Amino acid sequence: MNLLVTGGAGFIGVNFVRFWRAAHPDDAITVLDALTYAGNRASLDGVTVDFIHGDIGDSVLVETLLAGRGIDTLVHFAAESHVDRSIHGPDAFIETNILGTHSLLKAARKVWLAGSGVAHRFHHVSTDEVYGSLGPDDPAFSETTPYAPNSPYSASKAASDHLVRAYHHTYGLSVTTSNCSNNYGPYQFPEKLIPLFLINALHGRPLPIYGDGMQIRDWLHVEDHCRGIAAVLAHGQVGETYNIGGGAELPNLTVIETLCAAVDGAFAADPALAGRFPEAPAARGAPTAGLKTTVTDRPGHDRRYAIDERRARDELGYAPQRSFAQGFAATLDWYLANESWWRSVLDGSYRDWVAANYATR
Ligand code: NAD
Ligand code: DAU
Repeated sequence: MNLLVTGGAGFIGVNFVRFWRAAHPDDAITVLDALTYAGNRASLDGVTVDFIHGDIGDSVLVETLLAGRGIDTLVHFAAESHVDRSIHGPDAFIETNILGTHSLLKAARKVWLAGSGVAHRFHHVSTDEVYGSLGPDDPAFSETTPYAPNSPYSASKAASDHLVRAYHHTYGLSVTTSNCSNNYGPYQFPEKLIPLFLINALHGRPLPIYGDGMQIRDWLHVEDHCRGIAAVLAHGQVGETYNIGGGAELPNLTVIETLCAAVDGAFAADPALAGRFPEAPAARGAPTAGLKTTVTDRPGHDRRYAIDERRARDELGYAPQRSFAQGFAATLDWYLANESWWRSVLDGSYRDWVAANYATR
């Protein structure tokens, strides 16, 4: 394949590019990423890719990439992805997630459907949040669950899903869409629950639990998500959508208790950690759980997400391989071993330097 990966310097995009490169050493991979606060060029260090610093909304750039490089497969991750940010400032979400996706679709249509057309695939990466919120006894989200997005983020993703569907239905663009649950793993920007709480725990900062902490998410290790996307690319039917889950529905409090206990265990097992992170309660033998702090709930906070995995399992042969316990342990190890990575992404001056030092085309 000759791939264009949008958002390939963000959390899931980086993991996907690394996953794909390991499995397909000879495939061409072009990454297009605007390097927003969530994108980090250094996350792709050591991986053979052609990196383009640019915006998905730049249709001339995208057309040039698609046509000039003979791209046949576009995997679209680029987005504004954090629900809390969408509540405080929705505009960027409308701009990137709706208008940016539409711009990509227009470019793909122009390049791939002109003349007799070329074999191609536009794969759109979306979220289970488009289905809204479940009650405790509601059936899990299936691919036919009606859309009911509740936050500006999920509404913008829902709009993009509809546009992707429409470009297939109206123009015949070869699209697939996957809607997945909460990812975690290496290279996740420390604003999302797991990396934020890990890094706060290492610095002795409060762990801010929204509301009663009993909101439920289905935790999906990012490597399983990448396997799911690869399965859609290989076996998915054009025009269809597939839900990808991790088979690990857990209340936030359980995730947070797992995290606190794991940090305590890591410090007990490795005395060097107390020297590296002296502000952590665990450095003086105190429980990390003492940092738990209840804060005001997120406005419109969705109560429960759950994925009905049957279609992906039956049609794609997809099943997650990592339990939450295994995936979480590996993630903690990664963050402890890659302190320089998370320190660099938290440092704005580093981001500014990257933006200024990579050519835009
Ligand atoms: P992220 O925020 O970590 O990364 C987003 C990437 O997109 C960044 O590298 C950023 O620089 C880039 N980007 C943003 N605007 C851009 C633009 N206009 N042009 C080019 N690049 C741009 O996001 P993520 O967590 O890796 O999520 C990737 C995709 O998966 C998103 O579409 C998101 O909605 C979806 N998703 C994420 C999760 C999750 O748990 N993280 C779950 C379900 C779906
Ligand atoms: O379900 C898929 C979605 O998962 C993706 O589409 C989004 O891009 C991704 O950000 C994620 O959304 P969530 O809102 O579920 O993830 P987040 O990590 O922000 O929060 C997970 C849960 O933890 C949620 O119930 C809110 C809660 N939370 C989060 C933070 C950041 C807290 O209690 N405290 C916090 O500080």
